Amino acid sequence: MTTMGAVYIAGVGMTKFGKSSQTLSELFCEAAQSALSTSPIQDIEALYIGAMNPEEFIGESNVASQIAAELGLTGLPALRVETASSAGAAALHAAFQAVASGYYRHVLVLGGEKMTHLSTSATTRILAEVIDKQERQCGATMPALAAMMTERYRKKYRLSHSRMEHLLCRVALKNHLNGSYNPYAQFQQSISEKIYFSSKFVATPLRLYDCSPITDGAAALILTSEPTDIFIAGIGQGTGPVSLRERDSFTSFRATQVAASRAYQMAGLSPEAVDFAEVHDAFTPFEIICTEDLGFFPPGKGGEALESGRTSLEGSLPINPSGGLKSRGHPVGATGVAQVVEIVRRLRGESKPKPRRELRRALAQSTGGLGANNFVTILERTAGLLQVQNLWTPPPLPSASRRLSRKGHPPAPASEAGRIETFTILYVTPDGFLPPLALALIRDRKGRLLMAQGEDISHLKIGREVYLRQVGDTYLFTVKSHLRKVREAMRKLLRRSPSLPSTSETATIPYDRPKSKAQRETV
Ligand code: COA
Repeated sequence: MTTMGAVYIAGVGMTKFGKSSQTLSELFCEAAQSALSTSPIQDIEALYIGAMNPEEFIGESNVASQIAAELGLTGLPALRVETASSAGAAALHAAFQAVASGYYRHVLVLGGEKMTHLSTSATTRILAEVIDKQERQCGATMPALAAMMTERYRKKYRLSHSRMEHLLCRVALKNHLNGSYNPYAQFQQSISEKIYFSSKFVATPLRLYDCSPITDGAAALILTSEPTDIFIAGIGQGTGPVSLRERDSFTSFRATQVAASRAYQMAGLSPEAVDFAEVHDAFTPFEIICTEDLGFFPPGKGGEALESGRTSLEGSLPINPSGGLKSRGHPVGATGVAQVVEIVRRLRGESKPKPRRELRRALAQSTGGLGANNFVTILERTAGLLQVQNLWTPPPLPSASRRLSRKGHPPAPASEAGRIETFTILYVTPDGFLPPLALALIRDRKGRLLMAQGEDISHLKIGREVYLRQVGDTYLFTVKSHLRKVREAMRKLLRRSPSLPSTSETATIPYDRPKSKAQRETV
């Protein structure tokens, strides 16, 4: 039987997150030097680096070798790991395996990204490259897909629009307040309800304060097989479908559930044993969903727990005490490492405000893309370990045969109708698309799901019937108005009547011909 060695954390470090004039290499070096300056271990044997897309963001590739050289460590093995916005956590995962196996004794883990020098539309387009091609071609972005999940969550758990808004606002207020104590956070100011509700919509119902910002920054950790005050008790990874339309749930992330299940099992712990957590609140609804996927609260109850104060700094299970991605910022490749840096500092009593109770154990959760490649890491202080029985049962996975039978892209319907499964109106669009842009996930009459662009932004509602057309690579939809439905019914009736001639008009679908994508973009 093979056994894994325990993996400990020595030094940790990070740059201040926000807009920076430093290059990506300089950010990586600052974070690495900061981690080394707090570490009793200096003889690093290898580098593991998480970066999501330096090729597109800064036009550089081969970053692992570059960073090794910048750090004066040329000669050491250096590896870049990429899993979209969880790239930092992926680097930590790979480094953990290398140390646990005994192959290396001490490794440096880095995560970083440089994003703020580009326009928001260019950054949005680059970030959207991690999502499914068909969905992206309609103009879908990360905020758009998060918004569509939010609308489904609201509908599934029977929340009114104002209740849903109120819950999202609570997440934003909590995390901005937490960030106000964090000297490394991009935003160090609390916000009021008034500020939240007067902020612009990015993708309905998500506003500016529901989104993580665009950020520069880097973070670093030193993993070692030599005992220190903190060790990695459990670690897990899980994947989920890249596209929204191929998933079996729009209100949870299976990838988080799988990753959490592995991490809890490895640590021999249940969710009740966790004292606080840093989770991937790239969008405020994701924090609520995450706390359910991690088994902290039952499905649909994350909002109530938040409202009751349980997840605030003084609560029984603080979530994102550092301010989270919402206020600390989200330099995509850095985030998975930064979450662990923040946890280590809090467990060591170095963060503000000082906790009123002793903290032993914490969890970090990182999301890649729209829940396509997620990680969970459980960290524990080594003094006075508690033995906690694992009581948590993860939700069952779909059977392997069902998973294998899922097809990639649906065959294109030539001319169809369907129903809205979920939707958003996008006000911040990627390069090449003009706002406002209506997007909806449509279930066509054959039961297939596809992403489509709306002809206009009115009458959108889950369950509404639509006409559907394919123009080039894009699907376009028009909501059937009451008048149109009556006209359609009349035409069907007339078509059935033998006494009336069948005109070419009765054979066409009664809806304005959609403009081509090129026409739309020149409007
Ligand atoms: N939260 C709070 N304030 C924000 C913010 C955010 N997410 N983003 C920007 N701001 C602030 C800026 O600091 C600026 O304040 P100032 O006027 O006092 O200087 C103001 O809002 C306008 O900033 P700007 O950069 O012009 O905003 P924008 O409209 O171009 O971009 C978003 C805002 C939300 C669209 C952009 O940050 C975004 O796309 N975020 C999502 C990123 C994402 O998808 N990440 C991947 C997730 S996995």
